[in-house]
Amino acid sequence: DYQTASEIVIFGALGDLSRRKLLPALYQLEVCNLIHKDSRIVGAARQEHSLDEFKEIVLESLQSFVKEELNQEAVDRLIQRLVYQQLDFKNKVSFGNLYQALVNGNKTRVYYFSTPPAIYGDICHGLNDASLITDADRVVMEKPIGHSLESSKVINDQVAEFFKEEQTYRIDHYLGKETVLNLMVLRFANSLFTNNWDRNSIDHVQITVAESVGIEGRWGFYDEAGQMRDMVQNHLLQILSLLAMEPPADLSAMSVRDEKLKVVKALRPINRDNIKEKTVRGQYADGFLNGVAVPGYLNEEGANQASKTETFVAIKAEIDNWRWKDVPFYLRTGKRMPIKHSEIVVHFKQQPHNIFKESYSELPANKLTIRLQPDEGVELQMMNKIPGIASQMNIQENKLDLSFSETYNNERVVDAYERLMLEVLNGNQSLFVSRDEVEAAWLWADSIIDAWQGTNEEPKPYAAGSWGPVSSISLIARDDRQWVE
Ligand code: BG6
Repeated sequence: DYQTASEIVIFGALGDLSRRKLLPALYQLEVCNLIHKDSRIVGAARQEHSLDEFKEIVLESLQSFVKEELNQEAVDRLIQRLVYQQLDFKNKVSFGNLYQALVNGNKTRVYYFSTPPAIYGDICHGLNDASLITDADRVVMEKPIGHSLESSKVINDQVAEFFKEEQTYRIDHYLGKETVLNLMVLRFANSLFTNNWDRNSIDHVQITVAESVGIEGRWGFYDEAGQMRDMVQNHLLQILSLLAMEPPADLSAMSVRDEKLKVVKALRPINRDNIKEKTVRGQYADGFLNGVAVPGYLNEEGANQASKTETFVAIKAEIDNWRWKDVPFYLRTGKRMPIKHSEIVVHFKQQPHNIFKESYSELPANKLTIRLQPDEGVELQMMNKIPGIASQMNIQENKLDLSFSETYNNERVVDAYERLMLEVLNGNQSLFVSRDEVEAAWLWADSIIDAWQGTNEEPKPYAAGSWGPVSSISLIARDDRQWVE
C-alpha cells in the first residue's frame, strides 16, 4: 500500500460536482477498500453546517447519485471520516479555523478545488497564510482553467506561487474514462495496430463526441464558454493526443505527458486565412428529441436572444509531423444531438487492387471503431466471404465486435472520477494535464476563436435532435469523405 494517510479537503463540498461526482467516487473507493484507513474527508464550504448536517448531505448525495444499492459498511466507514469546516474563502480568520481542523490530522493534504477558478487564488493565499501548505501536499484543479491562454496563465500562476507543478493535478475527466485509457492499450499492446498506425495505413480519423443534453440550466456559464472552450480545448484534444502521440518510453507521467504535448504543438494553426474551410460552428434551434419538442439555445431559460455562442463545432485538424502528414483528424462535438454517443473511427486505406470485382466493384476500407460511451467497445469492419457453394466469391462487409459489457459480464464501468481520485491519493500524475499541455491547447483554440470573431458570422443553426448544421457535412464531403452515422 503506497498511499499515505491524507486529509482530503474538498473546497466547494456542497456544490454540484462534489455531490454528483466526488463524494460518490470516494464512496466507490471505500467499497473497494482503496482509501487509507486513517484518511479523513474534510468538507469546506461557505454555508454554516454542523457535522451531523454535513453527514446527512453526504448520505443524500450517495442515495441520489450512486446507481447501485448502497453498501452499508462502506457508507459507515466513509461517514466516520467526515469533518466539516465552514469557510469564508476571502477571510484569514476563517482559514485559521481550517488550520485548527487540520493541525492534528494527517501530514499529507489533498486540496480539491471544486469551486469556480476565480477563487483559486484566494484559497491558495488563505492556505498559505494559515501555514497549511508544505511540499507533501497536493492540489487538484477542475476545468475550466481559464478561457484563453492569457487567463489560464493567470490561474496557473496563482496556484504555482504556492504549489509546484509536481504537486498540481489538473483534471480532464476524459482521461479517467475506461475507454480513453484503453486507447493506450489498444495502440501499444497490439502489434497489428502499432505497426499500422500512421500515414502509410490510415486514410483519416473521425472523433465524434455528441451529447443529447442541452446546457442543463447553465446558460450563464456556458454562454461565456461555448463548445470550443467547453469540450474541444480539453476533452477532444486529449483524445486526439492519445490517438496520435508517439509511443511513450513508459507509462510515467513525464513520458506520457511529453508525448501528448508534442502532438498539440504540431497541430497546424487555424486562423483567419483558413477558418472557413477548416471549421464549422453551429447553434441548436428548436427541434425534437425522441419525439419531444425541445427549445433552441436562444429560447432556453435565461437566454440572451442575441447570443452568438456556438453549441456545435466541427474541425478538420491536421498534425504537421512525419507520422500524420496528409491524414486529417475530423472532430465534431455538439449539444442537443440525437443521442449521447462518443466514438473514434479510424479509417484505414483502401486496398490498392481488387480481385473481387464480381462481388464488390469497390472494396470498402477497413474501419476501426472505438466506442467511448455509452455501449463501450471496439469494433473492426472487415471483408468476409459469405459461406456457400456458389462458384462466384460472394463477399460482404462484417465486423469483429468486442463489446465490453458482453466480454466483461456487465462489470460496472468505473466512473472517471473514481479513477482520478485514486490516482491523486496515490500521487500519480499520468492522468492529469500538465501546464504545458493546457497552454499549447489554448494557443491553438484561441487562434480559432479569434478567427471566428474576425468573420463576425453567426453560428449556423441546426435543429435540436439533428447531427449539426449541413455545412458540417460539406466540411468532410469536400475531401470526398463522409461522417460515419
Ligand atoms: C464537461 C462539460 O466537461 O463534460 C459539459 O463542461 C459536458 O458541458 C461534459 O456535458 C460531458 O462529459 P461526459 O463524461 O458526460 O461525456
